[in-house]
Amino acid sequence: MRVEQEIDKIKEDALKELSSANTMDGLQAVRMKYLGKKGDLTRVLRGMGSLSPEERPRLGQLANEVRLLLEDELDRRLAELGRQEQLRQLAGEALDVTLPGRPVQRGHRHPLSTVLREIERIFTGMGFEVVQGPEVEWDYYNFEALNIPKGHPARDMQDSFYITREMLLRTHTSPMQVRTMEQAVPRLPVRVIVPGKVYRRDDDATHSPMFHQVEGLLVDSRCTMGDLKGVLLAFARQMFGPDREIRLRPSFFPFTEPSAEVDVSCLNCGGEGCRVCSGTGWLEILGSGMVHPRVLANVGYDPETAVGFAFGMGVERVAMLKYGINDLRLFFDNDVRFLHQF
Ligand code: PHE
Repeated sequence: MRVEQEIDKIKEDALKELSSANTMDGLQAVRMKYLGKKGDLTRVLRGMGSLSPEERPRLGQLANEVRLLLEDELDRRLAELGRQEQLRQLAGEALDVTLPGRPVQRGHRHPLSTVLREIERIFTGMGFEVVQGPEVEWDYYNFEALNIPKGHPARDMQDSFYITREMLLRTHTSPMQVRTMEQAVPRLPVRVIVPGKVYRRDDDATHSPMFHQVEGLLVDSRCTMGDLKGVLLAFARQMFGPDREIRLRPSFFPFTEPSAEVDVSCLNCGGEGCRVCSGTGWLEILGSGMVHPRVLANVGYDPETAVGFAFGMGVERVAMLKYGINDLRLFFDNDVRFLHQF
């Protein structure tokens, strides 16, 4: 009878203490006191061995039931205190609904996209259509049809990424001259600009292995270099300001004859000569010329009745001049401190 009373007392005391403990630490202390290694109930359970075989099963079962009861009650109280704790915390962290919201950062176009759109706007305004072509190109379109046969020294200036012997990443947008005319022949006029990515094995402050060009092509039954100059002057003034002048310098491209390098009067000094234009007063923006009769013939036009001009400009170059940027690689670093300025 003594052991039974002891178990009863442990149960009563433990339940009372569990219900009055009101901290997590308090509950843990009660657990240690009764259910821990040296706890009161644990001691009783260990002492079962000294009881008589008749008493042992009944008292063992009783002690175990009390252990389970106390464990359940302990879990219940732990959960209860946990919930109360959470509610207290929430109450302490009251929401201040008058706090201003965090502003959402708004993105914007990349400066190259802005410049590209501007170029497209200007030329579509003059009646040109925008078309695009493949970046992986046949050697035939990139060189051969443009009057640059294998072994021609002009290939050296466009150190190239080849995919196979006959296929490469296009080194300029000029192959689209050929593709466009092939589609159009014998229809006239042809008036397109071709924006797109091009690739060359160059990498420094003014060259990137990938960059952008815009090709221009106009073919008609009557067309002169004066038309070329007029179109490019109109472009330069819309892009860089109404006071700009342009000049054509003799140059060489295998697919245009005659060929000209086109300069725009320096945006910085207006033509006086300064650091930006290395004292010359002029900045180079593109290559151009009258479409070579052999290129016209390659695609099926009769060079006696069709005549045209073509030009190719570097978009990064135009953007650098327009915004006064001195390192082309900044366009591709994706540093928002740079990009946010445009
Ligand atoms: N494709 C030439 C280049 O990348 C530029 C060019 C285009 C020259 C059209 C003349 C006519 O250098």
